[in-house]
Amino acid sequence: MKFKTIEWKGDRIRLLDQRKLPQEVRYLDCPNASSVAQAIRTMAIRGAPAIGVAAAMGIALAAKKTRSRNPRVFAKAIEKVCQEMRETRPTAVNLFWAVERMEKILRRVGNDGVEETKKNLVREALQILKTDIEVNRKIGMYGKKLIKKGDGVLTHCNAGALATGGYGTALGVIYAARDEGKQFQVFVDETRPMLQGCRLTAWELVQEKIPATLITDNMAGVLMRKGLVNLVVVGADRIAGNGDTANKIGTYGLAVLSKSHGIPFYVAAPTSTLDLSLASGEEIPIEERNIAEVTHFRGYPIAPKGVKAFNPAFDVTPHSLIHGIITEKGIIRKPFRKNLRKMFAALKPRPERFQTLSTGQAGVPYRTRDSKEG
Ligand code: MRU
Repeated sequence: MKFKTIEWKGDRIRLLDQRKLPQEVRYLDCPNASSVAQAIRTMAIRGAPAIGVAAAMGIALAAKKTRSRNPRVFAKAIEKVCQEMRETRPTAVNLFWAVERMEKILRRVGNDGVEETKKNLVREALQILKTDIEVNRKIGMYGKKLIKKGDGVLTHCNAGALATGGYGTALGVIYAARDEGKQFQVFVDETRPMLQGCRLTAWELVQEKIPATLITDNMAGVLMRKGLVNLVVVGADRIAGNGDTANKIGTYGLAVLSKSHGIPFYVAAPTSTLDLSLASGEEIPIEERNIAEVTHFRGYPIAPKGVKAFNPAFDVTPHSLIHGIITEKGIIRKPFRKNLRKMFAALKPRPERFQTLSTGQAGVPYRTRDSKEG
């Protein structure tokens, strides 16, 4: 990759400001945890794994800059920062997973002492970043087998290097297939309302010289009907215990279209995106963002003043529409509940339930029709 999504600079964190892309490649220096939290909220950095890395680095930065030598005072101050990070965005579980990893280190401050804990927190944040890139490469390695010569591969939103520590999940699959010399075509959904496909995925693919065609979200059906799409690969923000998957709004519609055209639909995600404490996708908190993102186009009004609008940032795709989940441990197939548990048993135990928050405004309930099986 010719760019770095996020970098630890010792006294600050440097982010590639994704709000400015593709017009400008501008880096944003965050000198403290609050500015990192603000960058996550305003989507200067976004994408499930990337916001996990950012939150962890923000916590490490706060720890490094905290003056108190008293373990209790130090722990209280850093715990407040952890909470601030948790309150930034509610859907991507990677954020809560990363905060909990940092809290685990923090809880040992009584034994380790403040200075050692500071070092351990920085080490942990850097480890989260390093592992994320390695994990994405493994996802790419497993996923590339799904792409055949001459295929048309459709993706939604941005699940690339920009959305992760580097390399990407869904785009990682595409990069790995390209690196193997496979010739294929990529279709990129523009991804209204925030245009992550158009602004970010298309930008990444142009940087990487991968042939890609940008389409508006409402064109996917036509492409499928014409036989131009052979595979759909998307990322994920949270995967429940039965395989129901929350991802960028519009993913569900694509999955329905894929099913009706007989096209395999895959989710690419690290195991840090799994939330087995949730029985189904109905329990996943869905972020609702400001309706100005719908009524305006990059600040310019495109709807009559006073009109109501609805702006959920994510939707849930029921597991029945998903062919497989490409993880760093391999491709998980149905029955998801059983196979996810089996795979998870081999991993380190994790807390029963993440302490997550919902910022829903309109309170429109999300139901997945067959969310109880799996
Ligand atoms: O609102 P965003 O841009 O943070 O949403 C990002 C997505 O939905 C991605 O597809 C998902 O986080 C996976 S990123 C590897």
